[in-house]
Amino acid sequence: MKEEPVDRFLTADDLAKTLRSDVREGLTGTPKTLPPKWFYDERGSALFEEITRLEEYYPTRREREILVARAPDIAAATGARTLLELGAGSGEKTRLLLDALSGTLRSYVPVDVSGDFLEDAAAGIAADHPGLTVRTVVADYEQHLHLLPGGERRLVAFLGGTIGNMPPAARIGFLGGLRATLADGDFLLLGADLVKDAERLVRAYDDAAGVTAEFNRNVLRVINRELDADFDPDAFEHVAVWDDAAEWIEMRLRSVRDQNVRVGGLDLDVSFAAGEEMRTEISAKFRRERLEAELGAAGMELAEFWTDASGDFSLTLARPALG
Ligand code: SAH
Ligand code: AVI
Repeated sequence: MKEEPVDRFLTADDLAKTLRSDVREGLTGTPKTLPPKWFYDERGSALFEEITRLEEYYPTRREREILVARAPDIAAATGARTLLELGAGSGEKTRLLLDALSGTLRSYVPVDVSGDFLEDAAAGIAADHPGLTVRTVVADYEQHLHLLPGGERRLVAFLGGTIGNMPPAARIGFLGGLRATLADGDFLLLGADLVKDAERLVRAYDDAAGVTAEFNRNVLRVINRELDADFDPDAFEHVAVWDDAAEWIEMRLRSVRDQNVRVGGLDLDVSFAAGEEMRTEISAKFRRERLEAELGAAGMELAEFWTDASGDFSLTLARPALG
């Protein structure tokens, strides 16, 4: 198999530095928090893939349903030559886009912080699409948008509802940064989960088999390994709550007892009280009006807005606004 080019805007060193500062800041703040991008080592990425197959976790199935129905429309509207995918992960749903775009598409650029997982996924896609240049980019889409490859008629895909994992201020900054990289003729394809019944939402983030709980606790294993910490993952319970005012699901880890954790790599001792909760992820849910307003504020306009038949999930095709 031919080697595909890899661009690394994040070296192992950069990743280690960012992890150190995120963990120090998160564990010394009140309340304690950890950012969700550290879930995704090999094990975390595999657990996420398992989540996407759970009965309770509807977003992946619903987004795939929309892509099956709309990929030909997306191809016709965009005539994309380059597909740049942010937070690509396994790129499993992307294959629907690659097939529909085969008439015009020349290159696929999957972008992710999780390098090993990304490279395996990209190699599979390259093998199945011999005419396509697959250029893998290991980068943080919150920092490196301006470094991503340019070119004519680009379609930037950000699928899965991952936009909802950014806190609102970061999301606004991200959309502005993304708009700045888009030229006339480029499009954004944005997957976003929609507000719905709280009970269904909580079930999607607290599945009966406990896969999401393992995914949540995986961040502790990453910190143990990378920063020589001694978290006991079994001493933290998975919590998923719906925040009705903010319209997001919040995942937390709750300490089951009073305990001290040593993070050797940071020379840091952290104490947790019994019942203390640490936030590990938000997953914001949207309404069309909010998406339209936030894209508008960032200088983009809706070309299309689609949902699945039951109205659970949305896919928006947006472009730079005129004027
Ligand atoms: N797009 C896929 C995967 C979603 S999981 C889907 O729809 O199923 C979220 C992905 O985003 C993971 O692969 C994770 O490694 C990546 N990710 C999270 N934060 C990131 C960041 N700041 N920069 C780049 N990739 C990130
Ligand atoms: C990647 N992201 C869109 C997922 C979500 O639904 O917010 C991550 C996830 N967290 C728990 N389950 C899935």
